[in-house]
Order: sequence, then C-alpha cells, then structure tokens
Amino acid sequence: MSFTNNIENYGYLKIDIDPTINLINEIKLLKKEKNAIILAHYYQVPEIQDIADFIGDSLALSQEAQKTKAEMIIFAGVHFMAETAKILNPYKKVIIPDLQAGCSLADSCKTNDFKKFIKQYPDHIIVSYINCSAEIKALSDVICTSGNAVKIVESFPKDQKLIFLPDKNLGAYINNITGRNMVLWNGTCEVHDILSIEKVLKLKINNPDAKLISHPECKAAILEISDFIGSTTALLNYTKKDNAKKFIVATETGIIHQMLKNSPDKTFIIASNNDESCSCNDCQYMKKNTLQKLYVCMKYELPEVILPEELIIKARKPILRMLELS
Ligand code: 13P
Ligand code: SF4
Repeated sequence: MSFTNNIENYGYLKIDIDPTINLINEIKLLKKEKNAIILAHYYQVPEIQDIADFIGDSLALSQEAQKTKAEMIIFAGVHFMAETAKILNPYKKVIIPDLQAGCSLADSCKTNDFKKFIKQYPDHIIVSYINCSAEIKALSDVICTSGNAVKIVESFPKDQKLIFLPDKNLGAYINNITGRNMVLWNGTCEVHDILSIEKVLKLKINNPDAKLISHPECKAAILEISDFIGSTTALLNYTKKDNAKKFIVATETGIIHQMLKNSPDKTFIIASNNDESCSCNDCQYMKKNTLQKLYVCMKYELPEVILPEELIIKARKPILRMLELS
C-alpha cells in the first residue's frame, strides 16, 4: 500500500490498532521519540485539541510552524494548512492524519480557472486567503487569514486595485470595513455559508441575553446583526473577556471546546440550521482527523505532505510577506 499526495486518488492505509494500548500515552511517547510537534486547529475534535502542543487559528498556526524547532510537524487540520507548514519548513517532515482533509473553499478555486480569472485584471494585486492550494498561493502577491486580512489589505494604498480570493463573504466584509472595492472570487466555506439568517434571528429572539459572535466567512446578513466578528482566536478571546454570560456562536463546532474550557461558567449556543440542542456545524474535512489516525500517522510517519521545490519557492514568498506584515 502506498500513500499519495494526490487528494483525488487518496486511499487510507488500514491498520489494526491494538485495542489495549492507551492512544494518548502512545502519542505522547511518539512525540518525544521523534522530536515532533502536534499543531492543531480549533475545529479539530476535542481529543486532538487536548493532546496538541499548540492550538490556534490559521494565522497563529502559520506563525508557530515558522518558529518551531521540532524535527517533525504533525498537522491536525486540513490540507492547505499542512501545505503552508511544509512551505515554511521545506526540510522538515510534515505529516497529516488524513490526506483527504480538504476544504470546500480551497476546492472552489482551481488553478486553471484562477489563471483565466486574473488575466482579466492585469493591473491588480492578488490577495489570497490562506484557505487555498499551494498552486494558488504561488500565483498570489500576498496571503492573509481572517485574523489579519484587514491589516494586509490596508497595507496597500487606497487606490491600488486588488483581487481577493477565494472567500466572497470575507472579501465583501473587508470591502465593507475598509471602503475598498476589491474584485472577489466566488467561493465560500460550506460550513459558514450555509448558516441561515432566519435561524440565527430565531436564536437571537429565543436568547435575548446572548451576544451573537460570528466568523467573517458567514454571509453579510449574519455579520450585520453580530455583536462581534473575528477569526476563531478572536472569537475565543472575546468570550474570555466580555461580560456576557451567553453567546450564540456562528462558526464551526470545534471552537466550543476551547470556549467552555476557558469560561466554564458561560453558555455557548452554536448557531446551526438545525434545532438549538444540536451541535452539527461540523466541518466534514476537519473532522476526518481522529485520535486513531493521529497515532497511526505518527507511528508510520505517513501520509507525508510533499510539494515540488519550485512550488515551495514560489508559494513561500507571499506567505512570508504576510508573516512580516502581521
Ligand atoms: P481561522 O481559524 O483562521 O479563523 O479560519 C477558520 C477556518 O475556516 C479554517 O478553515
Ligand atoms: Fe474549509 Fe470551511 Fe472547513 Fe474551514 S471550515 S476547512 S473553510 S470547509
């Protein structure tokens, strides 16, 4: 059985795990033995968040990947995140528990379509949200995340023409607060874009004492009625500091684990299109990673993220530009 980085042809190696072993202990041992670091995004399942060496949003994870001294990076997140870690660490092994952990947003922007698109705007600078493939990054001038997008966009003169991709909701939000008119790619995150304004309004009516906090990948109508908008880290920090005791959280379910850990006395209601008791705003890609797969990938050091050197060199430049500006 062989592993491939071609996400379309990916087949997961099935390995029987001895049911008597303690996965948490084994992962801790492997971490030490291999001088490895586990970086996890907030949308990972709680068990992975709890064993990770570092948990963060896309910006913090890139910063951590840039500065780590570990010899091996285990990226518990989605593929574009692990790719970013590899681009920043071309000589280190970067492993991801499941290579099929993709992203609807990154998938909405295929390289050939993108090349045709940018040809229409030759005098524009390309600002790409980190949720895109390494190929798209290589064609971009600068990368941004939800945590620094405003800062990155504002680093250009007001009259500079910009293309923003691939998230049209985040792009429209930045256009709105910066007074810019960036050309937007028509992509969305399937987890955030699906949230309906009617359901969120209903939640607000049923919970008048709650504050609505939203990720900027949500639709404009939801952002307009939100008390706070920010990246996952910004949302988490807001719930720690704000006096409110109840929050309606318009983003992926995984973040609730950290919110509850930090503020056990507060109530968090996930904004979902289903009923209030349901925590079903799961990102199907993020949730592909499990503790079992984490153990197997660390033990066998597979599947590894491998990128051509030329692509790494090209994609590195706009990522480093973002990190310098952040
Ligand atoms: P941040 O954690 O950077 O806010 O990004 C959210 C997201 O959708 C990641 O895929
Ligand atoms: Fe992609 Fe959305 Fe999942 Fe993030 S939450 S990985 S943007 S599909």
